[in-house]
Amino acid sequence: MSERPLPRHVAIIMDGNGRWAKRHKLQVALGHRKGVETLRAIIRESSDIGIESLSLYAFSTENWRRSPEEVAALMGLLLEYFTSEIDELDEKNVRIRILGDKDGMPDKQRAALINAEERTKTNTGLNLNIAINYGGRAELVRAAQRLAEKAAKGEIRPGDITESTLADELYTAGQPDVDLLIRTSGEMRLSNFLLYQCAYAEFEFPAVLWPDFDLAAYHEALDAFRHRDRRFGGRNS
Ligand code: IPE
Ligand code: IPE
Ligand code: MG
Repeated sequence: MSERPLPRHVAIIMDGNGRWAKRHKLQVALGHRKGVETLRAIIRESSDIGIESLSLYAFSTENWRRSPEEVAALMGLLLEYFTSEIDELDEKNVRIRILGDKDGMPDKQRAALINAEERTKTNTGLNLNIAINYGGRAELVRAAQRLAEKAAKGEIRPGDITESTLADELYTAGQPDVDLLIRTSGEMRLSNFLLYQCAYAEFEFPAVLWPDFDLAAYHEALDAFRHRDRRFGGRNS
């Protein structure tokens, strides 16, 4: 089979920071900090090789269940990241979008997220989607509410709602469906990530923990994708 092109949209569930920290007898916050280094490298590489959209799962609506110390460490890292990286990302022509409920974030973090989106909104390079306070079901509920509001105002009729008008109400509006979903650390579940957008995604579950996921591992996943036989319900040949 001939190789297909690179995926247009790559989604990554960055998992395994906690186990990495434990393995190295470090506090969990240091696992997350090390994970940010991986994230930097993967974003840079994605931009360099011409990936159209990269969606990274950074914090789920369920992650608030973790200890106050861990949540505080993650919020601190988020703020640090969005303050220190924004210049470089902007220079690289990266357009940042936040997937998730920004209103449910603490004030400082919310301001930093809004600033990152505003600052990069005219950029035309990599679409970098960072999922923060994100849940796939909540995203679908939000889309349903927005469509219902339009219907209630008489702007659309219920029968006008299609797969594409629904997709237009998702955080990823205007971007292609996920082609390749990677989840590190060997876990094989979606954990409520991009449920609608992953309908026909190919999955890769490398065993490596996120802080150890390097460019070689990333290219392995991309190469595996290029050899997949995607059928979308039809038949090839
Ligand atoms: C993923 O690493 C990062 C976040 C959820 C923020 P984990 O912290 O879930 O790592 P494990 O699963 O405990 O190893
Ligand atoms: C999913 O990982 C969320 C992120 C990577 C941000 P979790 O570690 O929170 O998921 P579960 O609890 O193992 O399903
Ligand atoms: Mg985990």
